[in-house]
Amino acid sequence: MDTMNVIINANSVNDSEKSDSIEGFYANNAILLTGATGFVGKGILEKLMRVCPRIAAIFILLRPKKDQTIEQRLRKLIDDPKPNHSEIYDSIRIKHPSVLKKIHPVKGDISLPDLGLSQEDRIMLIENVNILFHAAATVRFNEPLNVAVGVTIY
Ligand SMILES: NC(=O)c1ccc[n+]([C@@H]2O[C@H](COP(=O)([O-])OP(=O)(O)OC[C@H]3O[C@@H](n4cnc5c(N)ncnc54)[C@H](OP(=O)(O)O)[C@@H]3O)[C@@H](O)[C@H]2O)c1
Repeated sequence: MDTMNVIINANSVNDSEKSDSIEGFYANNAILLTGATGFVGKGILEKLMRVCPRIAAIFILLRPKKDQTIEQRLRKLIDDPKPNHSEIYDSIRIKHPSVLKKIHPVKGDISLPDLGLSQEDRIMLIENVNILFHAAATVRFNEPLNVAVGVTIY
């Protein structure tokens, strides 16, 4: 991610509004979500966009696949026309289409030191993000222990 210009103004929502509702709590905050392509992560992403459209930004940590960049993976996640893929986001597309623009892919791999982040992305996340959802994991329960621990536990 070479150029990322996310403007976050946590002070624009007053404290009482924040404490009164879940939506208010997340308003103008930036979130980092791991595992967004997985079963749990997709649900978290949909819920955040649907219930909290004033979120400033949702950074999703994605690893590139052999034939797909993280940007292509994000597009596939949101737009995949196949049944049972992206229709979870249909109501977002209709009710809160602008929220989709707040999703930013960040290249990383949770099995690597420092999540495999570039220095630039690491600094950007440190400066902007204050809420983290960690849903990335391996759910293969016959995985070698070092792999399972490396991916799942922090
Ligand atoms: N499914 C359930 O009903 C359920 C219920 C309660 C708790 N949980 C827990 O929730 C967590 C996620 O489960 P899930 O069912 O959503 O699993 P899942 O569908 O297999 O999704 C796993 C996610 O983790 C990502 N991931 C795996 N290794 C990664 C790596 N090295 N770097 C970056 N991302 C990586 C995958 O990304 P890729 O697309 O790149 O592979 C995918 O997005 C697990 O800890 C599970 O125990 C699940």
